[in-house]
Amino acid sequence: MTNNLLTVAYIGASALFILSLGGLSNQETARQGNIFGIIGMAIAFIATALSSQVTGYGLLATVILPGAIVGAILAARVAMTSMPELVAILHSFVGLAAVLVGFANYLSPDPELVGVEATIHEIEIFVGIFIGAITFTGSVIAFGKLRGIIGSKPLILPARHLLNIAMLVLSVWLGVKFMEGATFWENIQIPQNYVAILTQEGLQPLLIMTAIAFVLGVHLVAAIGGADMPVVISMLNSYSGWAAAAAGFMLSNDLLIITGALVGSSGAILSYIMCKAMNRSFISVILGGFGEGTGTPSSGAKPAGEATATNVEEVAELLLDAKSVIIVPGYGMAAAQAQHPVSEITKFLRERKKNVRFGIHPVAGRMPGHMNVLLAEANVPYDIVLEMEEINEDFSETDVVLVIGANDTVNPSALEDPTSQIAGMPVLEVWNAANVVVMKRSLASGYAGVDNPLFYKENTQMLFGDAKQNVAAILSKLVESAQPMITTEKVLVS
Ligand code: TAP
Repeated sequence: MTNNLLTVAYIGASALFILSLGGLSNQETARQGNIFGIIGMAIAFIATALSSQVTGYGLLATVILPGAIVGAILAARVAMTSMPELVAILHSFVGLAAVLVGFANYLSPDPELVGVEATIHEIEIFVGIFIGAITFTGSVIAFGKLRGIIGSKPLILPARHLLNIAMLVLSVWLGVKFMEGATFWENIQIPQNYVAILTQEGLQPLLIMTAIAFVLGVHLVAAIGGADMPVVISMLNSYSGWAAAAAGFMLSNDLLIITGALVGSSGAILSYIMCKAMNRSFISVILGGFGEGTGTPSSGAKPAGEATATNVEEVAELLLDAKSVIIVPGYGMAAAQAQHPVSEITKFLRERKKNVRFGIHPVAGRMPGHMNVLLAEANVPYDIVLEMEEINEDFSETDVVLVIGANDTVNPSALEDPTSQIAGMPVLEVWNAANVVVMKRSLASGYAGVDNPLFYKENTQMLFGDAKQNVAAILSKLVESAQPMITTEKVLVS
C-alpha cells in the first residue's frame, strides 16, 4: 500500500473513531457508534498490515490469530457484570504493549534519527515506558480488586503520598541519567551476552525506572477503596490511551497517536464527570489518594432499629394502589438478570396509567451506563429512564419506590454520616418517598462494605430473596389481580 493511500485510510479511520465516540454518548445512537468504531478499527488494522513497514506476515499471523480467537471467546463469554474486569485486564495489555514497544525501540534504534530528533525519540521512549508500566500494574490490581482476588479495602501505607512523590522524583532523576546515557554497574556477574546488553548506555536507569513505575502503579491503585473503583477504571482507561499515544510517537504512527489521544482525553473527561457525580476530587484520584474517603473509615456501628420484612402480595398491592412509582435498579438487578420481568411490570403499570420512571445513579452496577444498557436490552422506553439529578427532587412526591438490588447508591449515610467511607457521594434520596421496598437477599452491605440505614427506616420494607424471582412473582400477582377485571370486561362485551 502506498504512503498516500495509508494516510487516507488513517484519516478515514480517525474520523470514524470520532463519530464512534459521538454515537456512544447517547443510548439511541450507541449501536451505530459501535459500528463506526468497528469499521474504523478494521480499516486501521488492514491498512497497517498492508503498509510497507510490515513485512513479517508469518510472525504477524502467529500472534494475531491466537490473540483474536482468545479475545473473541472471552468477549462472547463474559457476563455483563464482569465487563469492568475484562476492561481492566485489556487496559493492562495496552500498558504492557507500550512498555515492550519502548524497550524494543530502545534496543534497536532507528539509525536515521540523529541530533534533536534522537533526543526527542528517547524522551518518548522514557515517558511511554513510564506511563505504560503504571497502567500495566495498576490495571492488574484493578482487575484483582474487581474480581475479588484482592480485597477491596484501600491499602493505606504511612506517608504514602510522600512515597509516591519520592518514586516520581526518582523517576525524573533516572530520566536525566537515561538521557545522559549513564551506566551504574559495569561488572555484572551474568553471562557475557547479557552483559553487553545490560551495560548499553542508559539501559540501567531505564530498567530501574520501569521497576519503580510498576511499584507506583500497584501502590496508586491499591490505595483506592472498592466504592471508588469506577473512577479508577476510567482513569486507567485514560492512562492506557496516553500509553498508546506514546507508543504511536515511538513507532511514528499517526493513527496510534490520534486514537491514543482520543482514548486518553475521553477517559479523563469520563473520570472527571464521575468524580463530580461522586463528589470526589479529581486531583486526588490522579494522585491515588482517592480511597481515603474522608480519612477515617466508618465507625462500623450498626444502624439502629429493626428492618421490616414484607412479601410479594403486599408489594403487588402497594403497586396497584400507587399513582407514581420510581424503580431504582442496582448491581443486584444485573446479577439476578431481573431486567426483563422489571420491564414487564413497568409495562403493566403504565398501561394502568401509573407514572412509572427509573432513577439511575451514575455508578449503579459495576460500570458506567450498566443499568441503562440492561434496561435498553429489556426494551424499557428511554424517556422514562432518568439520571439521578433529574429525579432526585421527585421522591418526596412518589408513592412507591422499588429499590431492586441497589445498596450503596441509595445509602443515606453518604449524606448523614461524615465518617462513612462513602461520605459526600451524592445518592438517590429514595427514603423521601411515602413507601420504599428494597429487594435483596439479606441485610448485607453493598460493594463499598458500608451498612445501610435505609433498611431500618420506618417507611422501608425489605423484600428478601433473589431479585429475578421476586420481580417475576410480583408480576404474576399483578397479572392475577387483573384477571377478574379482564374476565368481567369480556363477559360484559359478550
Ligand atoms: P451495591 O452497593 O453493589 O449493592 C448491590 C446489592 O445487590 C448487594 O447489597 C446485594 O445484597 C444485592 N444483590 C446481589 N445479588 C442479588 C440478587 N441475585 N438478587 C437480589 N439482590 C442481589 O449496588 P449499587 O447500589 O448498584 O452500587 C454500585 C457499587 O459498585 C457502588 O459502590 C459503586 O461505587 C461500585 N462500583 C461501580 C462501578 C460502576 S462504574 N458502576 C464499578 C465498580 C464498582 P444481598 O447480598 O443482600 O442480596
